[in-house]
Amino acid sequence: MRVLMVCLGNICRSPMAEGILRDLAATRGIDLAVDSAATYAGHEGEAPDPRAQAEMKKRGHSIQRIRSRPLTPADFDRFDRIFVMDKSNYLNAQAIAPNTVAAGKVHLFLNQAWPGKDLEVPDPYFGGQQGFERVYTLLERASEAFLDSIDEQR
Ligand code: 4NP
Repeated sequence: MRVLMVCLGNICRSPMAEGILRDLAATRGIDLAVDSAATYAGHEGEAPDPRAQAEMKKRGHSIQRIRSRPLTPADFDRFDRIFVMDKSNYLNAQAIAPNTVAAGKVHLFLNQAWPGKDLEVPDPYFGGQQGFERVYTLLERASEAFLDSIDEQR
């Protein structure tokens, strides 16, 4: 399965989500291709925010080699699931989707852990390191729940 993580800048939440899900899938022996992208291209080519890198390093993950890139219509063919971090990302991704089947691949990531609640991963960009800790905790919970659902289907 191929999974794409999407947020606004692709420098804070979605690269963290990519790193967490990739590493947890590998630990469980689940074959998953994970990538991430932005709905806003303003940080294209940039490495993850230093605060995101620091939080991930503290938890034993490396995301330093990820570079921000914009979400494109072609991504909807390449990926089976497109997980967005908040409702604004959801609407932006829907607008980029080339057709209704593609639009149906977009889901709020936290619904994996809290089905139907439509919870959002708060944007940590304009806050301190604490926000990144909170983001990590939420993303880890959603990643484990998603992998549980894959394990149950195997
Ligand atoms: P992200 O965080 O969407 O989690 O990567 C942000 C990155 C950049 C901006 C906002 C949020 N920005 O306004 O440039």
